[in-house]
Amino acid sequence: MSIAEKFVTMEYGPAPEDPKEALTWLDRHERRFGHFINGTLQPPAEDSYFETADPSTGERLASVAQGSAKDIDAAVRAARTALPTWQALTPHARARYLYALARTVQKHSRRLAVLETMDNGKPIRESRDIDIPLVARHFYHHAGWAQLLEQEFPGYTACGVVGQIIPWNFPLLMVAWKIAPALATGNTVVLKPAEFTPLTALAFAEICQEIGLPPGVVNIVTGDSSTGEALVKHADVDKIAFTGSTEVGRAIRTATANSHKKISLELGGKSPFIIFEDADLDSAVEGLVDGIWFNQGQVCCAGSRLLMQESIAEPLIMKVRDRMGTLRAGPPLDKAIDLGAIVDRIQLDRIKRLVDQGVAEGATCWQPQIELPSRGLYFPPTLLSNVHPTSIVAQQEIFGPVLAAMTFRTPSEAVELANNTVYGLAACVWSESINVALHVAAQLKAGVVWVNCTNLFDASCGFGGYRESGYGREGGREGLLEYLEPTWFKNAPVLPAPKAAAGEKPSDDSDVALPAIGRTVKLYIGGKQARPDSGYSMEVRDGNGRLFGEVPLGNRKDIRNAVEAARKASGWSKGTAHNRAQVMYYMAENLSQRREEISRRLATAVGEAQAAAEVSLGIERIFSYAAWADKFDGAVHNPPFRNIAIAMHEPIGTVAIICPNDAPLLGFLSLVMPVLARGNTVVVVPSETYPLITGDIYQLFDTSDLPGGAVNIVTGYQGQLLETLAEHDDVDAIWCFADEASAAAAKSFSVGNLKQVFTNEGRAIDWFDVKQGEGRWFLEHAIQVKNIWVPYGE
Ligand code: NAI
Repeated sequence: MSIAEKFVTMEYGPAPEDPKEALTWLDRHERRFGHFINGTLQPPAEDSYFETADPSTGERLASVAQGSAKDIDAAVRAARTALPTWQALTPHARARYLYALARTVQKHSRRLAVLETMDNGKPIRESRDIDIPLVARHFYHHAGWAQLLEQEFPGYTACGVVGQIIPWNFPLLMVAWKIAPALATGNTVVLKPAEFTPLTALAFAEICQEIGLPPGVVNIVTGDSSTGEALVKHADVDKIAFTGSTEVGRAIRTATANSHKKISLELGGKSPFIIFEDADLDSAVEGLVDGIWFNQGQVCCAGSRLLMQESIAEPLIMKVRDRMGTLRAGPPLDKAIDLGAIVDRIQLDRIKRLVDQGVAEGATCWQPQIELPSRGLYFPPTLLSNVHPTSIVAQQEIFGPVLAAMTFRTPSEAVELANNTVYGLAACVWSESINVALHVAAQLKAGVVWVNCTNLFDASCGFGGYRESGYGREGGREGLLEYLEPTWFKNAPVLPAPKAAAGEKPSDDSDVALPAIGRTVKLYIGGKQARPDSGYSMEVRDGNGRLFGEVPLGNRKDIRNAVEAARKASGWSKGTAHNRAQVMYYMAENLSQRREEISRRLATAVGEAQAAAEVSLGIERIFSYAAWADKFDGAVHNPPFRNIAIAMHEPIGTVAIICPNDAPLLGFLSLVMPVLARGNTVVVVPSETYPLITGDIYQLFDTSDLPGGAVNIVTGYQGQLLETLAEHDDVDAIWCFADEASAAAAKSFSVGNLKQVFTNEGRAIDWFDVKQGEGRWFLEHAIQVKNIWVPYGE
């Protein structure tokens, strides 16, 4: 066809990208790669390699080393050895290295894009215009954080040696998302790329050499899941950062529960793409193309559930179908291709299986009559309509170019449907009414909400999920916190083994010889004192075995009631921060008024001096968090698009707290107040040594206008109650500040719904020291950041 004829029909001709440079690079390495350990590419300890192929042709690209536990060990040792020197560098020196990485990625950008497309199958248009520019942007942005580290994060220290495991959908971008913040904060790294797509990580290793990055600061060990497992298990790794499937995220949570490894998990999603009747439908359809057909839908935040307002469903579906008919699938190195190849046969089979299952469950499948290449791994763009919200295709991550469409009538129905998932990674809202869009965005349980736009990412904006989409954020200030720890905490001593009861000898009291008036307290659930379901109580004794009194022995049923009461009290989060502060100030005022009697009773357990200090500091602590209530605000980012990204500090939901034994009142207040200040509701198990403090505390709450259910207190054996709380699916986070075994139990029992876990790792915290006992560290764990992206301009 002549150009003139083409001009009339506007048909595409092929526009292939030249792969020569990438192929030359592969050939230069004789198409065989070892691991990158201590600054050099070296053969694996066991002579084992696997092949990586181009999914669009099936052709072998290279052999890559299969990492064994020995290779992981060598890499971890290199990272450990490099750590002190890397940390001793000035922030500016580290910034210079990150800056050099950014510049050098840019210098090789075309080769990296081509290599990425060959190894992964994604269209060159995407790797060239999205992946690689974002990689460079990430290193630039984090060069800036490295420079500012000490000014912006005083009192924080790097975790140490970090193990990072990444997936195959954005291979080099995930390298950048992992390595840039880790290096900027002074960690050293062992990274394992996905087995389907190891090549750009190895090209990045060469860039590390090219800029003269000190050996051992970045190590890259290739291999499959067994290599990943070896990294997760390695005893000398301080933190694991993982992106991939929720299933593996769970396995990592379990495998690290008995260690002090900090973990961050970026897992799957089933993100809703909500279109209201007043939306600009043509723009929404273009957004949808990006939302579900970008990277063949192999995107954790893909808009895979289309939720349409019923009134526009029919015309919208017609528009979507028309647009699907114009998508071009084909060789991904062709610059005019919209859909490339699926990464691997396993993934292609998985997509087919899920679509078949969806159809068997009643969905209608529609695919445009577009031509697919005769060889290579391709799946056509697919629309499933009449999907029932409980169908597998509405619930499970398909990770392919498959859209599941459903309808809703009202905004509240849209929110309900959108949140009807175990995931919570991202969401899109399309409406020309900013009121409707932001009102809905606020109610969505998702870490990112794009209003009238989709799949926008920037290094300055945190990205990460709610619920089973994982925890931790990548990008932005919150992303850096994942690689840092308070310096005092890193060096805190291990807590002594728990004693039967704490305290000094009880103060001399003329009543001692007489039979004690048994002091009994009750549970506190839904704003009311409650008897325990078991009908049993637990004796509370001092160090000398003398009976202080009795508290109810809470059980599973009491925990369930307490959690239900906490869920119902969600009004607490909807009130204004000012109101929460007022209630908290009122608590402090009431504690101050009852200072004498509370001190006197507490003194019997902890001695007079400590009791007086607990009450005085307790008043201050409540004041601090009342002050923070309306000050620990989010941020507004200005990413390099015509958008603002509003980073909201949202409550996590219902938080369960296991209190420390050593400071029954102050420990309780130090943990409950930050959680409350941020609008969460609480189920708390008080100190087991002196749970009688519960009686004093609920009297404070009762007289301070705290809404019923905002704080619920269940006394009893902490170990048993912890297990029930950690397993409860309606508890969103668990804070456990007890001994080492309890910290491990909190982590392993909470694997079910992957709740966020915050513990003292069994270390001693000096609750009487303001630097340790209060502040941002606690507040940072009491919120999750939701980034709402809003475009502006015509
Ligand atoms: P995966 O979660 O198995 O693999 C991700 C990475 O983890 C790879 O580097 C892999 O080698 C490693 N890995 C696997 N098992 C491990 C273990 N036990 N310990 C340590 N590391 C381990 O993902 P896979 O099998 O490639 O894809 C399966 C499904 O997962 C996809 O269909 C998709 O639904 C989801 N997925 C989600 C991603 C996301 O970005 N959220 C990325 C990739 C997959």
